[in-house]
Amino acid sequence: MGGALVKGWVKAGMASSLTVTAHTQQTLDRLKEACPGVTAMLNNGKAVQDADIVVLAVKPWLVEQVIAEIKTELKDKFLISVAAGIRHERIDVYAMPNIAAEFGESMTFIEEAAKAEIAAELFSKVGQCQIVPQRLMNAGMMMAGCGIAYVMRFLRAMMEGGVEMGFYPDEAKKIAMQTMQGAVTLLRETGLHPEVAIDKVTTPGGITIKGLNELDNAAFNSAVVRCLKAGLK
Ligand SMILES: NC(=O)c1ccc[n+]([C@@H]2O[C@H](COP(=O)([O-])OP(=O)(O)OC[C@H]3O[C@@H](n4cnc5c(N)ncnc54)[C@H](OP(=O)(O)O)[C@@H]3O)[C@@H](O)[C@H]2O)c1
Repeated sequence: MGGALVKGWVKAGMASSLTVTAHTQQTLDRLKEACPGVTAMLNNGKAVQDADIVVLAVKPWLVEQVIAEIKTELKDKFLISVAAGIRHERIDVYAMPNIAAEFGESMTFIEEAAKAEIAAELFSKVGQCQIVPQRLMNAGMMMAGCGIAYVMRFLRAMMEGGVEMGFYPDEAKKIAMQTMQGAVTLLRETGLHPEVAIDKVTTPGGITIKGLNELDNAAFNSAVVRCLKAGLK
């Protein structure tokens, strides 16, 4: 996630103001190659020294340890964490981006807090950003952080259907992606509710309704809702 954010911020023209750390030199080398102009080092404390904003993107179980390690250098710096489900008194703002940040297409949730706008400004450089109350952070994570995987699963299902009907996998992938992109653009441009847009392509007695009813038969709607709510348990 950290790598995707850095790549996104670099594309937004912020390379010279970024210092990146990692656990291994190998990761730093990879990042330096992908993101020329970014400062990279293994020393977390040193990296934090001259920073105004620190973004913590380690695995949840490492948050406590890393904060303890950089405690002295952190002082009153603005600390943002993207680690899922981990709270710590020193963290100023919790953010939940997704990996499309690399391409400026993240859907990021920022938890309401004093100065949450600082984080919102930073994350809006890598996509869309929404400040929400704490009670909606997990829902946001399921819809957008994890949601990207669920959308991919739908794409894969469409691909498999395409292959079964005679397309090669690469063709099926292209078709499924373009169809999804078309649907998203249509909704974005018209502001229509999906069901109203569905009505427009569903000819009475036609074939679209046959497929839609098969989805209903397979409890598609309920499966998606259950999938999103599974992470809240
Ligand atoms: N993946 C997602 O889609 C997503 C979305 C939203 C939020 N998140 C959150 O993002 C966090 C990272 O997840 P991830 O999937 O990106 O994990 P990851 O691929 O394992 O990346 C974690 C990074 O932390 C580095 N690291 C480990 N220990 C460190 C230390 N002591 N000091 C500095 N860097 C250290 C690792 O460096 P090395 O590579 O050198 O080991 C690695 O680059 C998690 O807390 C997760 O909840 C993830």
